[in-house]
Amino acid sequence: MIMAGQKVTPCKHVTMAVSISQVTFEHHRQALGIAETKPRISWRFAGNASEWEQSAYELEVRRGSDGDSHTYSQDSPESVLVPWPEDPLSATEQASVRARAHGGADQASTPWSDWVTVETGLLGSDDWSGAVPIAADNETERDKPKRPTLFRKAFDVESEIASARLYITALGLYEAEINGNRVGDQVLSPGWQSYNNRHVYDTYDVTDLVKDGDNAIGVTVGEGWYVGRIGFDYSRNVWGDTLGVLALLKVTLQDGSSVQVKTDLSWQASSSPILTSDIYDGEQYDSRVEAGVDGWSTPSFDASDWISVKELDPPKGELIPLDGEPIRKTEEISAKEILKSASNKTLVDFGQNLVGWLHVTVEGPAGTNVTFHHAEVLVDGELALGPLRTARQADSIILHGNGVQSWEPRFTYHGFRFVQVDGWPEETELTLDSLKAIVVHSDMEQTGWLETSNELLNQFHANVRWSMKGNFLSVPTDCPQRDERLGWTGDAHAFGPTANYLYNTAGFWRGWHRDVWSEMQRNGSMIPPEYIPMVPTDGASNPTAVWGDVAVGNPWNLYQAFGDLVMLEEQYPQAQAWIDTGIPRNDAGLWNRSSFQFGDWLDPKSPPADPGQATTASHLVADAYLVRMTQILSEAALTLGDDTLSEKYLSQHADLRTQFQDSWLNSTGEFENRTQTAYALAISFNLFPTPEKRASAGEILRTIIADNDYLVGTGFAGTPQLGFALRDLNATDDFYAMLLQTKVPSWLYQVVMNATTTWERWDSLLPDGTTNDSGMTSFNHYAFGAVADWMHQVIGGLAPAAPGWKKIAIAPIPGGDITSAEAKFVSPYGEVSSRWEVADDGFHLEVSVPPNTRATVTLPNSDESTEVGSGSYEFHDPDYKMS
Ligand code: BGC
Repeated sequence: MIMAGQKVTPCKHVTMAVSISQVTFEHHRQALGIAETKPRISWRFAGNASEWEQSAYELEVRRGSDGDSHTYSQDSPESVLVPWPEDPLSATEQASVRARAHGGADQASTPWSDWVTVETGLLGSDDWSGAVPIAADNETERDKPKRPTLFRKAFDVESEIASARLYITALGLYEAEINGNRVGDQVLSPGWQSYNNRHVYDTYDVTDLVKDGDNAIGVTVGEGWYVGRIGFDYSRNVWGDTLGVLALLKVTLQDGSSVQVKTDLSWQASSSPILTSDIYDGEQYDSRVEAGVDGWSTPSFDASDWISVKELDPPKGELIPLDGEPIRKTEEISAKEILKSASNKTLVDFGQNLVGWLHVTVEGPAGTNVTFHHAEVLVDGELALGPLRTARQADSIILHGNGVQSWEPRFTYHGFRFVQVDGWPEETELTLDSLKAIVVHSDMEQTGWLETSNELLNQFHANVRWSMKGNFLSVPTDCPQRDERLGWTGDAHAFGPTANYLYNTAGFWRGWHRDVWSEMQRNGSMIPPEYIPMVPTDGASNPTAVWGDVAVGNPWNLYQAFGDLVMLEEQYPQAQAWIDTGIPRNDAGLWNRSSFQFGDWLDPKSPPADPGQATTASHLVADAYLVRMTQILSEAALTLGDDTLSEKYLSQHADLRTQFQDSWLNSTGEFENRTQTAYALAISFNLFPTPEKRASAGEILRTIIADNDYLVGTGFAGTPQLGFALRDLNATDDFYAMLLQTKVPSWLYQVVMNATTTWERWDSLLPDGTTNDSGMTSFNHYAFGAVADWMHQVIGGLAPAAPGWKKIAIAPIPGGDITSAEAKFVSPYGEVSSRWEVADDGFHLEVSVPPNTRATVTLPNSDESTEVGSGSYEFHDPDYKMS
């Protein structure tokens, strides 16, 4: 029922369905082996019940061998991260939980949710039952890549098994097998951390792999970040120089007793068929070695020629489970085309720039050496290897000659779309089926979508997602291909809000921010190093704005996205320490003018070889961010209930704001430095003295943009803010003109140049098809994709209006030639969506709002909002015309 003739007409679809679609613990996608003994519980709703609000909930918890359950009832509207209702769990204890929620008067209750299990891991060193890290008992060569090692141990279980768990980590990267079967589906485990602070171990349910009788466990360990080459200066052995494994297999028998198999001196070691495996350089595999280790993780294997092991020191960092998700293989991409290069090389194109490795199916004579070089782009029809700098990104396999073999590297990863194949055996044809690309990343849940009527923009959005996937690999990295791949803080800060929409990143960031804080404290400086984990481990921490500001900005963005007060409290000390003592100041309290700054890194006019020399003064950028970060600190203190602290930072903020004006605005209240970034930051961060000055600054910004033909003029610092500054000035059309621009520099220039990921530079690929030759050119960097935050909020029209999406602001603003858009976000409460269309009869909007939330809906060109509760609604403005 749509009533015409009225300016804004909401129409409600009335239904009563409400249910619980998911119950989770803390920020775990799967709660096996977690560290929290009182894990907070959340549930998400499904169904489009109208105006449904929770008034009470019940939790039923089942634990202990008797399987007794207790039900807890609570009058509360809270459905996100509610307290654990029972005594704390002990180490390795399992409990099952289900939830149901009751609505207000006359409103339905949900049925009980499914039962969901939670299980803690090993909580302290005693729980490891004497397991010690072990290494092969041979000499370690410090300056060479180390050959991955196999570790094994045979053991008996003489009774029926009730359950079995493997707790495991490596000094390096591991893959475990039990009785010839791979344990779990994680790859590159235990991932990358600041290992001197936090050393992740993983928990696997291996009940189905252990049997009553003879058994064996085997673990392959490769270098990874811990031992291998990482960081600048060819550093290797950053955390340790010896490959090692630490594991405890706990088998619980039907009679309640248990068998424990732990790493100790009774294990044995040997060399793996993998000859070398290096994060940057790739993996070399000799399948002829397989014959000698065939069945090495089965009990009948003869290991009499294996060498003994030695004990290593315990890991320096705390052994702790992941807060977020492990890295997994998430997709398989088929080869699209086989090409011959100008120099007659065989190239395979996967049609998508991605992060992962190849799955190879091959057959050929023994000793044939097939090599695969990986690259992101072709120049003049050949692999462009220059942008990789010293990273070799090449894998090779020596064939065993005994028929068809399938192979994947295991302890490396590559950023690539193209592969050059050398040495492929003449006996078999290389076909599109011979190679598949395996995509890997931290396996976060996808939560955000956006589609519009503009195909170029859709491709851009897909590129943003691909660059996020490729760079959310245990830590937020800058790039996945060259000899860098580091956890650059500025990139993470710029992209955070976009990431938090596209995927559920809460656990991912929570773990990384533990390392941020430890790195800040490491040398007492309270300065976040430029990349985290820092390599070398004692590397200097240089204070720089935007990058260091990740300690303030990211926790606040996380709180807006996930509404987790405990996490905000956990991260507040790092925010406060950075503002209080980390930042070097001048007498005015602003940034010390002799401090180094990355500034508005990589604005399009910065010299290719000097990306920090952007058009906006770097200390202007630094000061603008400082004022805003101080304001955030005040808001965060207030949120955490510390009014005094909040007042303190509020008054600092007011002073700094004035100092900013005195330092950077001239007597007419304008910047001498007339740039997009200067105005965007000052408008977004509310740095002008009066609303009038702000409005006139807005006109100046619009002129700067028009004079620049609607081309981008911002770098890392200005890009995330520019669109919002224009929206706040009611100048969204100007930003649409920029967003839909396809000339360089612009977001869609990359798309028309066939990009399938977002680039580091506005012109990583130059209009003539050659790569920007600056020594720093990645085709998979997420920072400029930060504009997708604006796309989600303004085109999709979805944004949180209260922390964690308890309140939702739905306010799409059409523009450019876009005639329709559709956005969906899986919020902590359930799915929120919007779909709009501009037609001959005006503007149509359909929204759906999840149970237990409320939303304000604002139509374009309207000053009024309609507040609605949960449910599905249609709005129609017959007077709306496209501009
Ligand atoms: C990285 C960046 C980073 C920058 C700062 C580059 O090498 O790739 O994205 O933020 O350095 O210097």
